[in-house]
Amino acid sequence: MNCRICRAKTQPIISFGRMPQANGFLAKRNDPEHFFTLTIVFCPQCFMVQLAETLEAKIMFGDDYHFISSTSTVMLKHFKKIATDIWQMISKKKQPFVIELGSNDGIMLKHLAKRKVLHLGVEPAANVANLARKNGVNVLESFFSLQTAEKIRKHHGPADVICGSNVFCHIENLSSVFAGIRLLLKNDGVAFFEDPYLLDIIRKTSFDQMYDEHVYYFSGLAVQNLAKQHGLYLTDMRHQPVHGGSMRYYLSNNPLSPVSKRVRYWLSQERKLQLHHLRGFSHFQQKVDKISFNLKVNLLRLKKRGYQIVGYGATSKSTTILNYAKIGPHLLRYICDTTPTKIGTFSPGTHIPIKAHTVFVKDNPPYTLLLAWNHQKEIFAKEARYRKRGGKFITYFPKITVQ
Ligand code: TMP
Ligand code: ZN
Repeated sequence: MNCRICRAKTQPIISFGRMPQANGFLAKRNDPEHFFTLTIVFCPQCFMVQLAETLEAKIMFGDDYHFISSTSTVMLKHFKKIATDIWQMISKKKQPFVIELGSNDGIMLKHLAKRKVLHLGVEPAANVANLARKNGVNVLESFFSLQTAEKIRKHHGPADVICGSNVFCHIENLSSVFAGIRLLLKNDGVAFFEDPYLLDIIRKTSFDQMYDEHVYYFSGLAVQNLAKQHGLYLTDMRHQPVHGGSMRYYLSNNPLSPVSKRVRYWLSQERKLQLHHLRGFSHFQQKVDKISFNLKVNLLRLKKRGYQIVGYGATSKSTTILNYAKIGPHLLRYICDTTPTKIGTFSPGTHIPIKAHTVFVKDNPPYTLLLAWNHQKEIFAKEARYRKRGGKFITYFPKITVQ
């Protein structure tokens, strides 16, 4: 296939075969499911790592989107900090205007709404958009594109800040998004976005970031090339500890904007890992297969010895590893999760029942596979009693550990 960004011929990095929609939790075990071939490719010209094939965006982010941002206290804090950072950027400006793409349930914008900042969330999923409105957030229920940007500019004027967290990597037509930003951003404005960082994924082999919704796996090298195409400039890169390692990229449409030394640092780290060459990905499939195989063998062993095992956190990203390693209800009795809309459903492809956290507390299972591994610190703190009583969590990146 050709690169979505620069049209050059791409090269395959890894293929996982047929995979279901990662967030496609089933109301009934036998409900129909959407499958697609999950293959990740690399573009040797602009360095963008991306999916070869995608599911239709309407299927993934329709009226009923199961991912609610405000389920983790760490993420609540993280988004509050983003709002504070934005406040510091704009507080001295006259009538600043802030736009967030993929505003979800208003987890970030509600803080700016409270401060009476002119703002707009752009969010296609009706259910989460309504939650945001209840939080006092203005939402335009739409996908973001050049056309949406034109409409917003006409009705509200240009923006001082345009941002998005864990949303840019979801948008297949990223060129339209960047063109929209270029159009909508004031000359002294700042756009920034953060997503799981390719360098962390490669270093940790955290391949569970790879699923239908994540069309792109960004590096600074690729973002810089993409930005250039649209007359935008990469001015800063700030690493974030969330989602197993994320990168926040800052963009400006002013060629004279100062560039932080962090950009040079991270680009050199990326070059060291050879993320600008297929060679940088040459052992990835092998490492993925080793982790998947070892995890399955370990779970089978525990099961054979008569132990109950459950999963913790029905994350979208667990769909890839559970399906790839073929870990189903025969190995995990259920997965507990705190998201009300997920409870009572079945995991995509593997059909493991999703149960309330209270079930986990009552059961006190001897072994728990930590599928929400990116929230380990928070979950270990929450489950201190479980661990004290001898309960063990199994994690699998970069290698399998029982603790
Ligand atoms: P995420 O990794 O994509 O943020 O998804 C986290 C999932 O894990 C979400 O479905 C909520 C669930 N979860 C719990 O069930 N308990 C917790 O303590 C945390 C932090 C998350
Ligand atoms: Zn390309």
